Amino acid sequence: MEAVKPNVVSVRNAQKSFGEGNARIQVLRGVEMEAQAGEIMLLVGPSGCGKTTLLTIVAGLLSSDTGSVELWGHKMETMNEARRTDFRRANIGFVFQQFNLIPTLSVLENAAIPLLIRSTPRKTALDRSAAMLDKVGLSGRYEDRPGKLSGGQQQRVAIARALVGEPKLLICDEPTASLDGETGAKVMEILRANALRDDRCTIVVTHDHRIFKYGDRIATMRDGVIESIVPAPQTASVRSLALVAKE
Ligand SMILES: Nc1ncnc2c1ncn2[C@@H]1O[C@H](COP(=O)(O)OP(=O)(O)O)[C@@H](O)[C@H]1O
Ligand SMILES: [Mg+2]
Repeated sequence: MEAVKPNVVSVRNAQKSFGEGNARIQVLRGVEMEAQAGEIMLLVGPSGCGKTTLLTIVAGLLSSDTGSVELWGHKMETMNEARRTDFRRANIGFVFQQFNLIPTLSVLENAAIPLLIRSTPRKTALDRSAAMLDKVGLSGRYEDRPGKLSGGQQQRVAIARALVGEPKLLICDEPTASLDGETGAKVMEILRANALRDDRCTIVVTHDHRIFKYGDRIATMRDGVIESIVPAPQTASVRSLALVAKE
């Protein structure tokens, strides 16, 4: 029997609303969720059900109204803003649905940001950024501004930026939405290999059925709650494939 892995993420009764008075909408209605070390947790659910809001709260970019979010046992809501920012920068990589690249910086600089804000020497940061861009198939685009790239290429810059700091928790909001099937599979292979290292934890929001096989578990969200969490199909074969790919 496999040993029980420790929880990296533990969300208890998270509630979140936006707006006031008549315009108020309750987006999260008591989310319960756990994600463990070493797994890829897929999060699926209809548009508008609260997936991005939940991820943003798990990453400490937004606070829930009530409930708790613990990362490795640390309660996010008890940290002040500065501490939470440091904690996030040290431990979490985030692939934003809208990419959030900085238009005035080059592709190479964009992907290096997590290292540069941690005061990694510039040369080291840019070298590691280049290596990560190569992995996602963007060699030769280092000096371009993001605006010159296609949506799929920008998405891969966002993925390189999320991975470059080797975060222990990687959160991806629809990371393959702008990618063709083959590139999407390649990106998921990279995420899979990353997830297997040092018991990292990965959460991926997706609508893309083709990538379900790369997940360990699938959480289904509806109307602001997690309805079910079930094992993903074909986990074992994909895991051994990813292991072979690493060697
Ligand atoms: N900052 C915000 N202000 C007001 N409403 C928001 C905000 N963020 C999200 N919402 C609303 O919350 C709901 C859930 O959004 P979201 O979490 O982005 O859903 P999903 O990612 O599942 O599509 C939507 O109705 C959206 O319009
Ligand atoms: Mg979303």
